[in-house]
Amino acid sequence: MNRVVSGIRSTGNLHLGNYFGALRNFIRMQQENECFFFIADYHSLTTHPDHTKLHGNVKSVLAEYLGSGLDPEQSTIYVQSDMPEVAELYLLLNMHAYIGELERTASFKEKIRKHSDNVNAGLLTYPVLMAADILIHRATQVPVGKDQEQHLEMTRKYARRFNNAYGTELFPEPQPYNFGEELIKIPGLDGSGKMGKSEGNGLYLIDTDKDIQKKVMRATTDEGPQAPFSVKSEAIENIFTLLKVVSTPDTVEYFNDKYNDCTIRYGDLKKQLAADIIAHVSPIRERILDIRSNDEYLSKVVKEGGEKARESARQTVKQVRELMGITSI
Ligand code: TYM
Repeated sequence: MNRVVSGIRSTGNLHLGNYFGALRNFIRMQQENECFFFIADYHSLTTHPDHTKLHGNVKSVLAEYLGSGLDPEQSTIYVQSDMPEVAELYLLLNMHAYIGELERTASFKEKIRKHSDNVNAGLLTYPVLMAADILIHRATQVPVGKDQEQHLEMTRKYARRFNNAYGTELFPEPQPYNFGEELIKIPGLDGSGKMGKSEGNGLYLIDTDKDIQKKVMRATTDEGPQAPFSVKSEAIENIFTLLKVVSTPDTVEYFNDKYNDCTIRYGDLKKQLAADIIAHVSPIRERILDIRSNDEYLSKVVKEGGEKARESARQTVKQVRELMGITSI
């Protein structure tokens, strides 16, 4: 059976990028694999979030995981910092991670550009901690969006490097769990780029129907197709990308045809998109709100999940220590 590991940082609420990037088809994923889903609170510290909000954010992501349909009976759901073994593996893997390759990571370069006042060592070694998250359960597959492709590639490199250094096959080289398709990038509706928490363009799982309607109706468009079958601008392409994710193929084809014969009305396109997003999100939101207020249930889930996760982690760390020559006197 494949082992799957997936993580989401606790820097805010889950948006459609997280949902469709990392959790798509999770029902099948949970049934067919041994799954570990965790909340990456250590990772969220790299950007110095308001520490008074961290605990609340961890709880929100947990409720959002559960509201999205992750099932603690089928999967191991835990908080990263409840499993300290990952910090040890991170330290040990750091001995095989080279500064040059870490400095060349796209996400690190982007962080330097955006936050030159906070270029900390945690940011530089972010991919090593992510590799530790994955390798600690000896995962074979990782569901991620397109933005995490390079981090996953680095995880494979560290797995290979470790195996070669110690003459072992301990770590599998984890592949993207890509649902049989390309890794996905959910765009924002502000004309360019991806949907993200720090981009301020998120459509969130806890948004009300009205919020969604408003955000979608405000989506950036252009002056309309100027000739039959003209190439779509990025803003329009982004709307169609979202439509493909939430709507039926017939609906997509209908609006595509309208675009191609220049009869499309962007207002109608947005109304349809908003309605189809709401159909996805509103039952999830109701479940999230329900679960969010049940502290007892939330604690029980992560307590049991944490214990299961630690059991799996301990076995790996024990072997890594032995392979690296760390044994008790
Ligand atoms: P984070 O919290 O930024 O995002 C969590 C997951 O959501 C995906 N995602 C997207 N997918 C498609 N389109 C988007 N617009 C979009 N925005 C976010 C991300 O690809 C990711 O799968 N480093 C990770 C967290 C992490 C992790 C791990 C993931 C830590 N350790 C181990 C997997 C395995 C991150 O920053 O995710």
